[in-house]
Amino acid sequence: TVEFSLRPRFLSEYIGQTRAKENLKIFIEAAKLRNEPLDHVLLYGPPGLGKTTLSNIIANEMGVGIRTTSGPAIERPGDLAAILTNLQEGDVLFIDEIHRLNRSVEEVLYPAMEDFALDIIIGKGPSARSVRLDLPKFTLVGATTRAGLLSSPLRDRFGVVSRLEYYTVEELSYIVTRAADLLDVQIVGDAAKEIALRSRGTPRVANRLLKRVRDFAQVVADGMITEEVAKSSLEQIQVDRLGLDHIDHKLLTTIIDNFKGGPVGLDTLAASIGEESNTIEDVYEPYLMQIGFLQRTPRGRMVTNAAYHHLGRSIPDESNV
Ligand code: ADE
Repeated sequence: TVEFSLRPRFLSEYIGQTRAKENLKIFIEAAKLRNEPLDHVLLYGPPGLGKTTLSNIIANEMGVGIRTTSGPAIERPGDLAAILTNLQEGDVLFIDEIHRLNRSVEEVLYPAMEDFALDIIIGKGPSARSVRLDLPKFTLVGATTRAGLLSSPLRDRFGVVSRLEYYTVEELSYIVTRAADLLDVQIVGDAAKEIALRSRGTPRVANRLLKRVRDFAQVVADGMITEEVAKSSLEQIQVDRLGLDHIDHKLLTTIIDNFKGGPVGLDTLAASIGEESNTIEDVYEPYLMQIGFLQRTPRGRMVTNAAYHHLGRSIPDESNV
């Protein structure tokens, strides 16, 4: 798909995440020098920052195959055993949402990560015995939005733990320019910057906005993405100057209007706006907290003065945020 071809395939094409990238480059080169698989890698951070992309890059740079799955897709220990026994020597196994693995599956993963072994119980009752099967050596790349949700025995088995950060406007401008080039659409520098400014620090968002702006450029302009076209189409699709969409607005205005600015519990808030608690927690809140519009307190979520200001609301007297 187009989406996939926008993704960089090698570290040299990958923009941003400088620290993670430079470290990975060393670890990959060292593993290749020693002719060993790369140590297991845990990538964590908000959605859309490039965890899946990086796992594919790791496989490409190591020159090995990749098998991709996710925590919730591996329901039973047997599902994981089937995947592990089908890997080729050196392959990357990418498990997205790895915090959602269930306990019984996790327990199969421990000896697999540590000793490249699969412990199988044969028989039942007094005659049951355990047999150890050798597995191909592999690199587990785990991705999660919140490393805190991982059990510590699992987290401790990753040799490389890398936190992905929100991208700068400059990095995102560069990503947008590169993607426009791949999509064969002309864009001026200020337009790329305008898209970058409204992309919440997230390449996935930037590329999605670029595609929508391109639609406007092609239908209501002459195909060229100018600053004017970028601004007017982003306003049209309700992405504001800070990249907040109508759901961010609804979340903030609901806390302000229905809960006096907070604190309000996550589940109460989720029910009020008709979104999943998990989606709010993983997708919306991290960015709103990053820009200082929302605080998590022990008593619940609170909107800050900066958010009142951005929304053009007057700050109530009682507000002590
Ligand atoms: N497309 C999406 N993420 C990217 C990144 N980090 N570098 C280059 N292109 C990208």
